[in-house]
Amino acid sequence: MEKELVIVLDFGGQYNQLIARRVRECSVYCEVHPFTLKLEKIKAMNPKGIIFTGGPNSVYGEDAPRYEKEIFDLGIPILGICYGSQLMAYTLGGTVETAPVSEYGKAEVTADKSSPLFHDVSEKTICWMSHTDYISQAPAGFHVCATTPVCPVAAMELPEKNLYATQFHPEVLHTQEGMKILSNFVYRVCGCSGDWKMSSFVEDTIRSIRQKVGDGKVLCALSGGVDSSVAAVLLSKAIGRQLTCVFVDHGLLRKNEGDEVEAVFGPDGPYDLNFIRVNCQQRFYDKLAGVTEPEQKRKIIGEEFIRVFEEEAKKIGAVDFLVQGTIYPDVIESGLGKSAVIKSHHNVGGLPDCVDFKEIIEPLRLLFKDEVRKAGRELGIPEYLVDRQPFPGPGLGIRIVGEVTADKVRIVQDADAIYREEIASAGITGLGQYFAALTNMRSVGVMGDERTYDYAVALRAVNTTDFMTAECSEIPFEVLQRVMNRVINEVKGVNRVMYDLTSKPPGTIEFE
Ligand code: XMP
Repeated sequence: MEKELVIVLDFGGQYNQLIARRVRECSVYCEVHPFTLKLEKIKAMNPKGIIFTGGPNSVYGEDAPRYEKEIFDLGIPILGICYGSQLMAYTLGGTVETAPVSEYGKAEVTADKSSPLFHDVSEKTICWMSHTDYISQAPAGFHVCATTPVCPVAAMELPEKNLYATQFHPEVLHTQEGMKILSNFVYRVCGCSGDWKMSSFVEDTIRSIRQKVGDGKVLCALSGGVDSSVAAVLLSKAIGRQLTCVFVDHGLLRKNEGDEVEAVFGPDGPYDLNFIRVNCQQRFYDKLAGVTEPEQKRKIIGEEFIRVFEEEAKKIGAVDFLVQGTIYPDVIESGLGKSAVIKSHHNVGGLPDCVDFKEIIEPLRLLFKDEVRKAGRELGIPEYLVDRQPFPGPGLGIRIVGEVTADKVRIVQDADAIYREEIASAGITGLGQYFAALTNMRSVGVMGDERTYDYAVALRAVNTTDFMTAECSEIPFEVLQRVMNRVINEVKGVNRVMYDLTSKPPGTIEFE
């Protein structure tokens, strides 16, 4: 049986993958394609629906991305969002112009509840707007089914041709009933039955990996984090011993982490794969000696990681494919396309230049973190691994401010282990990410009758859903105090513990 598919046509908006993800949340498979996807190709894919994304252009601009008019005659339901709605209006003879007042932020939309798009949605509903142009006149035959005080066509529809459009963004969480609106489109307009589950993603990915790899050899850089673990298990299920996982212990891992990773993926673990652990802690400490600038530390760690990895790849020989556990937010934060580079994430773009592979396999490239976790559960990966908080490739190297030394690593590992133990024993769950970091500040303290001059440890805990923005978590004070007491008593070299209240932005989640 053919699987239901909804296509997102990308006109350059920043939320293109988010739209796809929301549709998948409705249990309907969804893929993003560039707006240059040919009409014939679309017909052959036989989608149940098409969504046009937003985008930065004006439809009447010279270089504006457009689509041939025939797409609106296919009978396939189409939902235009923001720029996509304006494009629909413009192509079909409506008027789009610069709005007298730009709308940015939350707006109260008055919706016509008789539209299938607004079934079960409140008549007055808060939606997220972000536009300078607007549709001033809907094309002939269209019914305006939502407005705001400044936007005469906040949504429009032509039900007999299955065409729908919203000026606001139903995919972002600020649109309070956005999921309902998208689900209405997918179920009530496109007539989907919702046949997609994470298990389908896993099965399809395993099948396509087998096809792609044939009897070739595959190498995976395994860090023990959620993403690379899920990628490795997917590959191991698909191709078994054709896969070799290389785990580089760069001496910047959390306490006992190297052994924990080995216990799961090594010869005594449940998976049928080749596992190589490279212990090269000192090599990294030597390279990092005297280096204090954070971006330089990242580059050194990334570079050295590649060298170690390359050496191992050469030992194995004739490796055709490289697996990376890249997930969607890594792709955007590393500045793919037009978004700005915030930091150089070392699981993106680094490895392939240096080693001679035929191709890279990134099976999780389109998934968000929580989708990766779902895939991991589907694959039967133990909960403690799937539920692990993210840990960056450069490891503790970016949780030690200033120069990295073996002794500082020891301090941050021990403090972090205590912090994690206390959070667990207090039964606190649902934190986005939390860890201890070592500030580069030493100050005077007194212990017993002795004067001390030691480091300050910073505790950090944030709530986040997308890791692009984050708020400081409200850890109960008594838990923080317990951690402080234990860290000062048990970790040599620390005489002060602080709690970091900074949100992202302006801070980042990591502490570097
Ligand atoms: P920041 O500090 O940029 O962190 O707010 C956002 C999320 O990304 C993780 N992070 C990384 N993950 N390689 C990774 O695999 C990296 O170089 C890297 N830098 C940051 C960070 O832990 C947080 O979850």
